[in-house]
Parts: sequence; structure tokens; C-alpha cells
Amino acid sequence: MAVKKVCVIEGDDASPEVVWPTVEILEGMGLEIEFLKPLTGEKAIEKYGTGFPAEAKEAVDSAYCTLFGAASGKTGGAIAYLRWGLKTYANVRPIKWMLGFNSPLENPQGIDYVIIRENLEDMYPAREGNISDLAPLGLVDRISGQPLAALGAGKYAIRIITEENTRKVAKFACELALKRKAKGGKGKVTSATKHNMLRQSCGLFREIVEETVKAYPDLIYEQFIVDDFARRLIASPQDIDVAVMPNMFGDILADEAAGTIGGLGLAPSACIGDTYAYFEPVHGTAPDIAGQNIINPTAMILSAQMMLEYLGFEEAAQHLERAVAEVYRHGSVLTVDQGGKATTTEFCQAVRAKLG
Ligand code: NAI
Ligand code: MG
Repeated sequence: MAVKKVCVIEGDDASPEVVWPTVEILEGMGLEIEFLKPLTGEKAIEKYGTGFPAEAKEAVDSAYCTLFGAASGKTGGAIAYLRWGLKTYANVRPIKWMLGFNSPLENPQGIDYVIIRENLEDMYPAREGNISDLAPLGLVDRISGQPLAALGAGKYAIRIITEENTRKVAKFACELALKRKAKGGKGKVTSATKHNMLRQSCGLFREIVEETVKAYPDLIYEQFIVDDFARRLIASPQDIDVAVMPNMFGDILADEAAGTIGGLGLAPSACIGDTYAYFEPVHGTAPDIAGQNIINPTAMILSAQMMLEYLGFEEAAQHLERAVAEVYRHGSVLTVDQGGKATTTEFCQAVRAKLG
């Protein structure tokens, strides 16, 4: 197998504290991967005046995929490019409980599902402005019949759902449900939207998902209004297999879902497009714990595991997941968020020791 290039973007605040130890773990696995480590964020701002300079973009482009931390603004340009520039439309967020994860639920056994969050549309990227700017459009408030522009001083935000992109995300969810079914999964795709209120935008999303699943006779289709789905994440998470939803619902519910298995430190993700992918934890930059060497690197390591699968290093991916699972099963080297006393460094050392 030819050497595969992976670009590493460290991110901001506490993010580099999980990114670099994860890269070290991967480097220690002796895989045919070459890591590109361009200057980004604060250090790049000092040198180039921008957190995502041309050199970093070139490194992203020349790599097969990118391993990303999380950004709080300084590296923000990188997210815009990785997501919208490279059209990584499916944000795959597995929620899987492992023995030893500090779940607040009484019975987290068997939680193993995936949230597919549409990654390019809906309320993001922000398209907002003054209500008065809407005047030339002549839009009328559905309830009062008054022009929207006459509602008074304030702001609006635009929500976009396109047919083409929704079809792609729906198909992605179906293909994933099929793959999971082949390994004993439920073969179920669940749509979660607010189609009762947002009849057109959420209505379209829901309709396309239903239509898409119908083309897969081996799959079951299920739909919930997103409020109810938020409750089901807590009440009966074991019933979920692959849940697909518009961008902002997926963004919010993935943090809730992470909470059910034991917190943000445990939830990995992949952002996948037709020609590119990047891998990042669900969590943000954890600025409140930056510089303390206590951030839990599990979400980052499991994101790297998803990257290994994407790169075709299936065995290595399984090996890495098993190593993490063993550290949790053993339970003596856990980070503070999991009720332990270990530092980030000690946790990573424990994973490396299990990798052998
Ligand atoms: P956050 O996810 O960074 O942190 C929320 C809470 O969870 C904090 O108390 C934090 O310490 C804790 N936490 C997060 N990850 C953890 C980990 N691995 N181990 C232990 N504890 C962990 O979300 P917050 O505070 O709302 O946002 C902070 C910054 O991150 C903001 O600037 C936000 O815009 C950015 N952000 C970036 C994302 C990205 O780049 N993909 C995603 C989400 C937020
Ligand atoms: Mg989020």
C-alpha cells in the first residue's frame, strides 16, 4: 500500500493537548502514513497574519484526509474550508458506550448508534441580518399578515435545505445502516425533524429521507419529531441505529447523546464528502481546562480510529479501539471527567501500552 498523507490541524485552546498525543499514538503504530503538520491557529497568525495560511490549505489539499482538533476562532478558516470548501456533507457521530465509560444512565449497556448530521446547510453557515433588509422581498408574516419588515427592529436567520444535498446525506445514512446490518445492526434509519412546524424545510428533509430509505428493502424507516427524539436519546437509546437529521439538530443532539454515554470526552466524529474527509471530536476547544493536561483524549483517539478505517487500515482501527476499550475496562487510568485521576499524558501512555 502506498504511503497515505494525513494533514494534522491542531486547533485552539485545549485542542492541541489531545491532537498531538493522538498523532504520537498513530505514529507508534508503524502504519504507512505520513503526517503533514502545517502551522495553523495562533502560531500561524503570528507568522502569517492568518490562522489558516495558504501553506496549511496546500497541506490539506495534498493529503488524503485531515485530522482536526477543534477551533474557537483562530483556526476557524480551516473549518470553513474543510467543511464547505471540500463539501464534507455527512457528519458521522457514533455514540457507543464501552464498559467503564462514566455514563449517568442506569443502563447504558448496548448503546451503539450513529447520528448523521447534515453538515453543510440548514442554519449554518450563518446567513443573518437586519429584519429591515427583508423589505425588498415583500415577505409577509404567515400569522398576522403583516410585512415581515414591519415586525420592528431585530434580526433574521435563513435556513436552507436543498434536495440534492439531503438526498446525498439520506443515501449516506442508508448505506451506513446496511453496513451496520451486515455486522448485526438493526438496519434502521430514523429521521428526526421539526416537520410539524417547519413544514417546508424540515418537511422536505423528512420526505427525502423516507423516499430514500424506501429504495432499500432491507432497511426499516422510522421518524420522530425532534423534541420527542431528544427524549428517546435518554429514555431508549438502545432502540436507535442510524439517525439522520438537519445540521443544527445534529449539532445539539450529538452533545446530548455524548452526555448519555459519559460526556463530551468520549464522542468522536468524521465529516465525509465525495472526495475528502476530516476527523474531529464532537467536543469544542474546552477552553476552561486548557493548559492543565486533564482533557480526555478518548474522543480524539476514536476520531483517529474512524480515520484509520477510512484510510483502509481496518485491522489497525480495530486494534486501536480494543486498546481504548481495555483501558476503560481496567479502569485504573482514567481522566478526571470519567471519575479518575490520570492526566491526558498518562491516559495516552496507557493506550500505547495496550497497543503493545
Ligand atoms: P466544549 O465542547 O469545548 O466544552 C464544553 C464542556 O465540556 C467544557 O466544560 C469542557 O471542559 C468539557 N469538555 C469538552 N471536551 C472535553 C474533553 N475531551 N475532556 C473533558 N472535558 C471536555 O464546548 P464550549 O465550551 O461550548 O465551546 C468552546 C469553544 O469551542 C467555542 O469557541 C466553540 O465555538 C468551539 N467549538 C468548536 C467546535 C469545532 O471546532 N468543531 C465544536 C464545538 C465548539
Ligand atoms: Mg457542536
